[in-house]
Amino acid sequence: MPLSWFRAEQFRCLASVELELDPAANIFIGPNASGKTSLLEAAFFLGRGRSFRSRRRDSLIRHGQDAFVLTGRSSGGVAPVMLGVRARRNGTDWQAGGAPASGVAALAEQFPAQVIDPEIHKLLEEGPGRRRRFLDWGVFHVEPAFLTTWRRYHLALRQRNAALKQGRADSDLAAWEQELGASGEELVRQREAYLARLRDPLRTIGEALLGSPITLVHSRGWDENKPLLEALGADRGRDQRYGATQSGPHRGDAAVEVGGLAAKDHVSRGQQKLVAAGLMLAQLQIQEEERPGRSALLLDDPAAELDGENLARLMSAVRAVPAQLWVTSLRSDIRGLPERGRMFHVEQGTIRPD
Ligand SMILES: Nc1ncnc2c1ncn2[C@@H]1O[C@H](COP(=O)(O)OP(=O)(O)O)[C@@H](O)[C@H]1O
Ligand SMILES: [Mg+2]
Repeated sequence: MPLSWFRAEQFRCLASVELELDPAANIFIGPNASGKTSLLEAAFFLGRGRSFRSRRRDSLIRHGQDAFVLTGRSSGGVAPVMLGVRARRNGTDWQAGGAPASGVAALAEQFPAQVIDPEIHKLLEEGPGRRRRFLDWGVFHVEPAFLTTWRRYHLALRQRNAALKQGRADSDLAAWEQELGASGEELVRQREAYLARLRDPLRTIGEALLGSPITLVHSRGWDENKPLLEALGADRGRDQRYGATQSGPHRGDAAVEVGGLAAKDHVSRGQQKLVAAGLMLAQLQIQEEERPGRSALLLDDPAAELDGENLARLMSAVRAVPAQLWVTSLRSDIRGLPERGRMFHVEQGTIRPD
């Protein structure tokens, strides 16, 4: 199972909570502002190294404290692995298996957490950044070379952008373009392989949730008729005027369609939530194929913005995905909550089992 035990200290309104978790389903019931989303945010941080609702890490530290500490026991692999993170205002320390880790990647492999929250429609509505992050998170779990490729690409991108800003000669730019071209093509190849793998699960989950297949239409981020190296050379003048590289996978996108129409423009807000949830569920399914028994789905207030019918569809699609479920709700009588599992009551930053 993913996490069998979890502790959060000084995280938002949670002074200290400790949970023995059910392998399949954990249900957190509590009134508004009791700390339900904060708990999911803490679990997400342990596996992902960031919050899903705030960019400012400092806002996650409980008022009046200087650090938060999260600890979990991952029991998905052969032997249990302890995971830990301690975040101070000026730095974060990671631990996996009793040893310091250089970053969150080692924890993400053990506890790949995915979230569906009331803001999830932003995945469709906002610009391509969120969709690229979604895509790259998926690639990370199936392609061992991804992190190396991604870092190579972004290092070369920073170097070329710096050279552009400094008004350096064409020959200096061309040197970085070799590396950008090679790593950028590789990154796109990895994204495309992952998108091909998403195709079937997305079709099936879309049919179940919306009665139509969900598809992702990839754009690489530059003129599709040219190799990246060539596009970079051809666009050098424009990039010099902008002072930044305008071509490459850092400008790529995966547009979301439902039944062949752009989801952003053609479906209602409630349906957008289902579409975005479908993307997360398809991704979870692949994650579980790669590393069975480790994934968690954090489902925050599923009843928000969904009518009874759509909520029932979402909950039945959620049940079909083999991940540990952490679900929050204002009430325990909403449709489709798991019947088995462990129930907890959340009240003013404390959590106790039913
Ligand atoms: N850094 C922090 N320190 C202390 N309390 C916080 C911090 N950040 C947010 N809170 C408080 O945490 C409470 C719980 O929020 P939340 O987890 O969103 O509750 P719920 O999801 O149950 O509605 C809110 O009252 C909020 O003001
Ligand atoms: Mg909440």
